[in-house]
Amino acid sequence: MSVPDMALVEGPEIFATLCAQCHGAAGEGKLEMKSPSIAGLPVWYVEDQTGRFKSGLRGYHAEDIFGLQMRAIVSSLSTEQISDAAKTVSELASVKTTVPEGAKESIDRGRILYANRCMECHRYNGTGDVVFHSATLISLNREYIEEGLIKYRDGFRGSVPGDIYGAKMVSVTQGLTDVQIKDLANYIGALANGDDPRPALER
Ligand code: HEC
Ligand code: HEC
Repeated sequence: MSVPDMALVEGPEIFATLCAQCHGAAGEGKLEMKSPSIAGLPVWYVEDQTGRFKSGLRGYHAEDIFGLQMRAIVSSLSTEQISDAAKTVSELASVKTTVPEGAKESIDRGRILYANRCMECHRYNGTGDVVFHSATLISLNREYIEEGLIKYRDGFRGSVPGDIYGAKMVSVTQGLTDVQIKDLANYIGALANGDDPRPALER
């Protein structure tokens, strides 16, 4: 019998005892905890974002209660433990953002916005790109997308000096109305389910 590899058992344990409390047993996210679905996110992104919470680039605002909770949790973990947990998270089956019922007009408006203001960094299929440090959008819960965009716009995320990646999203969201933000979140549901934004790109 071989000796169990401790590095391998650690990730699932950290996930089950800690992360699952807020992100759900399958990493699907919990509406009432304002936690996103993290299942299947790439390792680089999980490490990057948990690092941001730890260093105070994210979850810094006194009124961002849920972001502060996430920050407190990761601050108690070592870099190695976070890497192990990130590996476990990346191996969970990702869930697709859902399409809202009866929101055709909103989705149509969202497609135009997405094609012209988001696609260059988050790609035509919403998977994000490590080169731009941009996130995968198509597995996030719509409520989280909506609140996340409001957070960037209103100074709750991305506004710490030196946060070059967050600053991109702060600049992108300036001037977006609440309705446009909802349209975008609704559209990402359609995008996750095969919609193609490319024909909506204005040249
Ligand atoms: C106390 C509840 C709580 C616990 C425990 C927790 N999280 Fe979170 N996590 C959150 C909340 C809430 C957010 C969203 C914060 C925000 O809106 O900025 C979040 C955000 C994240 C994000 C960013 C996702 C994205 O799309 O940007 C990652 C990655 C993440 N958590 C991973 C983890 C991992 C890994 C663990 C276990 C080590 C963990 N979380 C434990 C509440 C929690
Ligand atoms: C210039 C490149 C760029 C453009 C354009 C852009 N993004 Fe982003 N986006 C990023 C980067 C980089 C991040 C990661 C920022 C961070 O770490 O806080 C990000 C993060 C996000 C997040 C947070 C994801 C998460 O998991 O928490 C959402 C939601 C998002 N973008 C949506 C959009 C939407 C919608 C648009 C169009 C209105 C858009 N982005 C346009 C680069 C961009």
